[in-house]
This record gives sequence, C-alpha cells and structure tokens, in this order.
Amino acid sequence: MPDARPVLHAIRHRRTADLLKLRPDPVPQDVLEAVLTAATWAPTHGNRQPWRFTVFTGEGRHRLGDLFARAYAASTAKDAANPDVQANQRVRVLKAPVWISLELHIPQPPKLPHWEEEHALAAAAQNMLLAATAHGLASKWVSGPAMVSPLTAAELGAPELRGFIFLGYAETTPPDRPRAPLEDKVVWVRE
Ligand SMILES: Cc1cc2nc3c(=O)[nH]c(=O)nc-3n(C[C@H](O)[C@H](O)[C@H](O)COP(=O)(O)O)c2cc1C
Repeated sequence: MPDARPVLHAIRHRRTADLLKLRPDPVPQDVLEAVLTAATWAPTHGNRQPWRFTVFTGEGRHRLGDLFARAYAASTAKDAANPDVQANQRVRVLKAPVWISLELHIPQPPKLPHWEEEHALAAAAQNMLLAATAHGLASKWVSGPAMVSPLTAAELGAPELRGFIFLGYAETTPPDRPRAPLEDKVVWVRE
C-alpha cells in the first residue's frame, strides 16, 4: 500500500526558520549527505543535473561570513557602505551550523530553455528542504543581496547563484504563514 503520510508530513511541517532562533548544535555528516542526496534526486530535464552545492560548516563559515561582508559592501543595498551592517554579515553566518549554496551550472552547450535548468535547481532545493525537515532540521532559503551577489557567485566559481539554504536545529517551531484556499488557486476542468 502506498503511504503518502511521511512525505505529506514533511511538506506540511517544513516552515521557514528564523536564523536567530537556532541552536548552535552541529548537523551530523550523514544527515547532511542524506539531505544533499535528496537534492540530487530532483527531476531534471534530460538528466542534466544543473546544480552544484558548496557546503559551509564549522570554521568554514568564517570564510562565508567574510565573503558575505565583502559582497554586501559591493551590493546596491541602501546600507551597503555601513561598516556595522557589513560586520553583522560575519556574525550572522555563525548563527546557523550549515550553509549550502544553490549554484546553477548549466552543462555546455546549453540545450534547454534556461528556465528548465533553473527550475530543476529549485526542485533540488525543495527536495533539500523537505529532507531536512524529515531529519528534524529547521531550514530557510535566503536570497539577500550578499547571497545572490555576482561577487559571491564568482568566488564560489558558480556561473549563477540562486541564494543559500541554511540548516540547523530550531529552539522553537517556526509559525505557519497562511496559504490561500484551493479555490483561489485551482481551476478544475471536469467535462
Ligand atoms: C527563492 C526563495 C527565496 C527566498 N528568500 C528569502 C529571503 O531572502 N528572506 C526571507 O526572509 N525569506 C526568504 N524566502 C522564504 C520565504 O519568505 C518563505 O518561504 C515564505 O514566507 C513562506 O513561509 P514558509 O516557507 O514558512 O511556508 C525565500 C523563499 C524562496 C522560495
């Protein structure tokens, strides 16, 4: 008998977490590998797998914090020149034990519309978020100025960067953001 409950449970209980409400506990390597493996099983037209991930943990997060600080300073954000805001980029990154880049590496020569490759990366990201939830991890997909910056992408060696996912164990369950009812979003065609 098919059992939809585990996957539906993960879908329903994946909620975007607050960076400042994570515990400092590290995430075990086998859990991280399970989450990354789930990402690689996403649908991808032609099995082109246009994704790459760089995982920052432990002391490696200082390199990411330094990169975010420089990328933020180079960004068009209103407060980009503010040294306190730049310094905060270095501190904030340490609030989550794991950061994973979402890099789009389209195999050459390009064979598909760009959006198909990009959506495959998004499907991989969602698989990652759901697998993380199933492992009891809190998560968030972040796309702030430093996290999608061309400078950050260049330093990662990523042709395109679609943000980061951070993972960690939450102190409290993140709140639900309400969803519109199905009737607002679905059209049924029955005859
Ligand atoms: C592509 C993408 C980028 C996002 N970037 C941010 C972000 O930069 N900052 C943020 O607070 N949330 C970000 N989010 C998370 C959304 O805010 C969140 O999914 C939404 O509020 C719904 O809440 P839920 O995920 O708990 O259902 C992003 C989500 C997606 C799909």
